[in-house]
Amino acid sequence: MTPDLLLAFDDEWTLAQALAAALGVPLARVERHRFPDGELKLKLPAELPPRVALLRGLHHPNDKLVELLITAPAARELGARELLLVCPYLAYMRQDMAFTPGEAVSQRHIAALLGSRVDALVTIDPHLHRIASLDEVMPACRSRALTAARALGAWVALRVPQALLLGPDEEALQWVGEAGRAHGLAHAVCRKQRFGDRDVRVMLPAEPVAGRAVVLMDDVASTGRTLIEAAIACLGAGAASVDVAVTHALFVGDALAQLRACGVRHVWSSDAVPHSTSVIPVAPLLAEAIRDL
Ligand code: R5P
Repeated sequence: MTPDLLLAFDDEWTLAQALAAALGVPLARVERHRFPDGELKLKLPAELPPRVALLRGLHHPNDKLVELLITAPAARELGARELLLVCPYLAYMRQDMAFTPGEAVSQRHIAALLGSRVDALVTIDPHLHRIASLDEVMPACRSRALTAARALGAWVALRVPQALLLGPDEEALQWVGEAGRAHGLAHAVCRKQRFGDRDVRVMLPAEPVAGRAVVLMDDVASTGRTLIEAAIACLGAGAASVDVAVTHALFVGDALAQLRACGVRHVWSSDAVPHSTSVIPVAPLLAEAIRDL
């Protein structure tokens, strides 16, 4: 599907411009006004063409979910007959089971909500750990889950040719495996135990890290504790250097400063989430998937 128009919000304008250029389609803005009581007023172009792609990543998810709940039906009222959500970062995917009785499985409910509002969705490295595909949680819409692992691997291979790609937990095997195989880099994963939001223990794998240039690779860095504990373990075990490459750079609060303070050399991320570390463009990946839909 090549959309007739890409709609985007001002805070994702750089990625929106790159994506519109890669697709060769016009770009239009959804304007936002926040009322003093916190409610939102959104303004779309007064008339929309039949096929519309809407770019909205869900970092800082709660406000943006409300924006989507308003924008999607408004776009249809204004003429969009086919609506594609381009959601580079799909939030709420990590709460994918009731870890204690009574916990809501947010992944299922947020995915179902979004899937009921749009005809198709494209995203990058959603946290699919306990399900094989987004189809399981958004059956009502066509979805494509892409990975930035190869692009991250290409970036790393050029800068750290002998890198050991290390996933900080077993779930990261999918990303270090793909990047490692694509670019001929060694890879392994740590084991992780999480006891709380910022209480994480990381155990190194049998693969030796002493004297090696380790690049920690993960889908998302949020508090940064996972990467910090992995970096401390690697440097403590004699790694020659530790760099970080992640798809989604959330880095809440002072997470990035803490990561650098523990001895990490470079921090690289994709621009799926706009961030000061974003150096790996995802527009080509998104554009190709959108065209193939
Ligand atoms: C979960 O397993 C993810 O892959 C990340 O490792 C995790 O979400 C990172 O969170 P934080 O930065 O808060 O440790």
